Amino acid sequence: MLKKLLTCFIISSFFVFQADAQNEKPTNTCSTTECHGNLVSQDVIHPAARKKCDNCHQANGQTHPQKDVKGFTLSQEVPNLCYKCHDENNTMANVHMPVKNGKCLDCHTPHSSPESYLLKKYPEGELCLSCHNKLESAQKQHKHEPVVKGECVKCHDPHQSDNNRMLVETSPNLCLKCHNVQAEQMKKPNVHPPFQNNCLNCHAQHSSTEEKLLNLTTKNLCFYCHTDMQKKVEQATTVHGALNDKLSCLNCHNPHASDQKMFLVNNTKDLCLSCHNKTITVGNRHINNIEQTLKKSKSIHGAIDKNGCTGCHDPHATNTHSLLNKEFPVGNYANGNKENFALCFTCHKSDLIEKQTSTVTGFRNGDKNLHFIHLNGEKGRSCTICHNPHGAPNDKLINDSSPFGSWDMPLKFVKSDKGGSCAPGCHTERKYERTTTTMTK
Ligand code: HEC
Ligand code: HEC
Ligand code: HEC
Ligand code: HEC
Ligand code: HEC
Ligand code: HEC
Ligand code: HEC
Ligand code: HEC
Ligand code: HEC
Ligand code: HEC
Ligand code: HEC
Ligand code: HEC
Ligand code: HEC
Repeated sequence: MLKKLLTCFIISSFFVFQADAQNEKPTNTCSTTECHGNLVSQDVIHPAARKKCDNCHQANGQTHPQKDVKGFTLSQEVPNLCYKCHDENNTMANVHMPVKNGKCLDCHTPHSSPESYLLKKYPEGELCLSCHNKLESAQKQHKHEPVVKGECVKCHDPHQSDNNRMLVETSPNLCLKCHNVQAEQMKKPNVHPPFQNNCLNCHAQHSSTEEKLLNLTTKNLCFYCHTDMQKKVEQATTVHGALNDKLSCLNCHNPHASDQKMFLVNNTKDLCLSCHNKTITVGNRHINNIEQTLKKSKSIHGAIDKNGCTGCHDPHATNTHSLLNKEFPVGNYANGNKENFALCFTCHKSDLIEKQTSTVTGFRNGDKNLHFIHLNGEKGRSCTICHNPHGAPNDKLINDSSPFGSWDMPLKFVKSDKGGSCAPGCHTERKYERTTTTMTK
């Protein structure tokens, strides 16, 4: 036995080896079954140890083998020993602490291992977590799939990097390596600046208490940067119900990018009608089905064709009723002050309701402005007593009927070439005629 071990030493020091292929059996003579065979018996054998043990060990003059006496010392200390053959991996701006300290053997075995890269544990994540076992950022409820799979090295270099946290690349490119859909979104005509800059503006890298690895719940996430919007919503008397469900801002905005301006998920008309295609009931209030109104209309407001719904409505919050951009009366009655109808006069000329006109409106008898007449007097009437602001079954957005107390009062509007007539519940049939003057808008 002793003899055998002795030859082991002699041969390993003086034997000349032939080049061997990766998976061949070790060709040195120290790692026979009787001697140090277990050191190189694992699947992944360090090529350096397969051939020559004295790549790293040198005899120190003591007879080998001898109980409790070391016959060999390392030819150099780790890590310089390793750097003899491998590039130094402590040269970049951020070096992993164990590498900086030369502790290659905290992670690698020098001889052989059952795992790739001669690692002591696998997948890599297990190795990493053996030291980073208190990594709070990876322990929250919703975990990133590569973290669950222990693929830490898909994002971190285990040794060093010029990027912070030893990242193999910086965000967003780091993330776009795997996230093709988002890489495509990057090419859209409208890209949200924080998406372009750094995914970590909104997402956690390892895990989160929120779904989709979000740093905060949606609304708070958006408000975190859009403080003006937060202020506006918090101070408004009317807040859109669309902001209050779980998706909140995401009902209408894509957080990353969109073909639409303002990163909208659709053009504003279809966007709004995607919810306003039914009657919405809030408490005992019924909010009309706008899509149905438009479908049943003979005339549809030009404002909708031109600007969708946002020409009159703020999609978020206002200090007016019905989310209107400007002043407009509630209900059927209001005196004929122009300020009361500021909403309509963002687009229409306000002399539409001057007392006398022979040009501005078609709703006149000669030069007597019937708009003025109806809007003034004891009980001034609002535009909505005759017009539906969205669309109506008659020309000129004229309603079929108007609510009068609990009575749905019919208007019976008939348009003619030079004027028209109404026979509403409040008076007998009346006609108006513009006579000769041509009308302008
Ligand atoms: C790439 C360098 C390298 C090569 C090649 C190498 N060793 Fe080692 N060996 C080491 C290092 C480094 C240690 C120290 C391990 C430690 O401190 O944990 C070591 C330790 C040992 C030990 C001490 C027991 C142990 O496992 O810690 C024995 C025995 C040994 N090597 C035998 C061999 C034999 C036999 C060969 C050839 C088959 C060999 N070594 C090839 C680097 C090498
Ligand atoms: C005598 C030269 C030599 C020394 C010294 C040496 N290595 Fe190697 N090592 C190699 C060669 C050759 C390869 C295979 C080619 C390659 O991957 O670069 C290799 C491969 C490796 C691999 C990759 C294994 C795989 O599965 O791909 C690791 C990890 C490694 N060495 C770690 C170390 C460590 C740690 C040390 C120091 C304890 C060390 N080496 C010292 C020559 C050496
Ligand atoms: C914190 C653990 C850890 C430490 C410490 C460590 N390594 Fe590694 N090393 C790894 C992991 C993990 C891989 C596999 C990387 C992969 O999967 O891409 C690896 C791969 C390697 C490789 C093969 C791939 C390559 O990058 O060339 C070599 C060689 C290597 N390490 C050498 C060393 C040397 C030399 C040291 C000490 C100076 C060292 N390692 C310290 C974890 C470590
Ligand atoms: C042997 C213990 C050990 C192992 C194994 C280990 N680390 Fe570390 N790591 C440390 C120490 C020590 C530090 C420095 C102290 C700290 O920041 O926690 C560190 C720091 C880090 C940092 C922060 C660097 C910085 O700039 O702040 C990252 C990222 C990291 N390790 C990733 C990994 C990954 C990925 C793995 C697995 C491939 C791994 N670690 C395996 C000990 C280890
Ligand atoms: C999808 C990519 C990715 C994966 C996978 C990943 N990380 Fe990270 N990690 C990052 C990014 C990005 C940062 C930097 C965050 C920052 O700068 O705020 C980071 C930061 C760290 C830090 C320091 C800050 C902190 O979060 O405490 C450590 C330590 C760390 N990672 C370890 C790991 C370990 C261990 C694993 C595997 C279990 C892992 N990482 C998996 C991307 C990743
Ligand atoms: C190594 C590949 C890889 C990298 C790098 C990577 N991811 Fe992932 N990520 C995945 C996989 C796989 C999933 C799960 C399948 C899916 O949803 O696509 C995922 C899921 C996600 C999800 C959805 C989570 C959920 O619960 O639905 C988000 C958000 C995410 N990643 C963000 C990021 C960010 C931010 C980065 C960069 C810091 C990043 N990813 C880097 C592979 C990766
Ligand atoms: C402004 C905040 C913000 C930024 C910046 C951001 N995201 Fe997101 N991301 C979100 C929100 C919010 C969601 C959830 C969308 C949903 O639930 O419909 C999300 C969802 C995801 C998803 C899951 C998609 C799905 O369909 O489940 C992935 C993957 C993702 N983001 C990757 C990224 C990547 C990669 C980056 C950087 C290039 C990034 N995000 C930047 C806010 C952001
Ligand atoms: C990390 C900060 C940040 C977060 C979080 C964020 N944004 Fe932004 N957002 C910006 C910046 C910066 C701009 C471009 C400058 C500007 O117009 O305010 C912008 C622009 C916008 C615009 C276009 C504004 C314009 O006038 O062109 C919209 C719409 C928008 N963000 C919606 C959202 C939504 C919805 C969320 C939540 C999913 C969100 N943002 C989260 C920073 C952020
Ligand atoms: C009902 C759909 C809808 C919802 C929900 C919504 N938005 Fe918007 N948002 C829009 C539309 C439409 C525009 C474009 C307005 C315009 O063109 O006048 C817009 C514009 C914006 C703008 C830029 C213009 C401005 O007014 O400053 C920001 C910032 C913004 N939204 C943030 C948010 C945030 C944050 C949330 C969640 C709290 C949110 N939005 C919820 C539809 C919506
Ligand atoms: C020309 C201005 C204008 C345009 C454009 C407009 N609206 Fe309105 N909308 C109003 C006015 C005025 C009211 C209040 C009506 C009232 O008080 O009787 C209102 C009320 C509403 C209401 C509340 C209805 C109720 O029953 O309380 C909804 C919902 C609504 N609009 C949705 C839309 C949608 C969706 C669009 C786009 C398809 C749109 N609006 C376009 C002026 C407009
Ligand atoms: C995700 C569904 C959704 C979308 C998209 C949506 N709404 Fe709404 N909207 C609601 C709900 C729910 C209510 C009723 C709750 C509330 O506002 O109090 C409502 C109410 C309204 C009201 C009446 C508000 C009041 O208090 O009188 C108006 C006006 C309105 N929406 C206009 C719009 C416009 C304009 C758009 C497009 C920019 C739009 N909505 C898109 C869900 C939606
Ligand atoms: C955002 C701009 C805008 C606002 C605000 C607006 N309108 Fe209009 N309105 C138009 C456009 C555009 C037309 C199409 C005719 C034109 O080009 O003048 C139109 C046409 C009309 C017509 C004639 C319809 C027809 O079929 O010829 C009536 C009636 C009308 N508007 C009433 C109102 C009332 C009432 C208000 C206030 C509640 C209002 N408008 C607010 C843009 C607007
Ligand atoms: C008593 C019913 C009634 C009221 C109230 C009323 N309108 Fe009209 N309006 C009409 C009729 C009828 C026409 C059609 C005139 C024609 O072309 O024969 C009309 C036409 C219009 C037109 C198309 C251009 C024109 O003047 O011919 C606009 C714009 C308009 N009205 C806006 C308003 C606004 C704004 C209000 C509220 C400030 C209002 N209307 C109130 C009945 C009314």
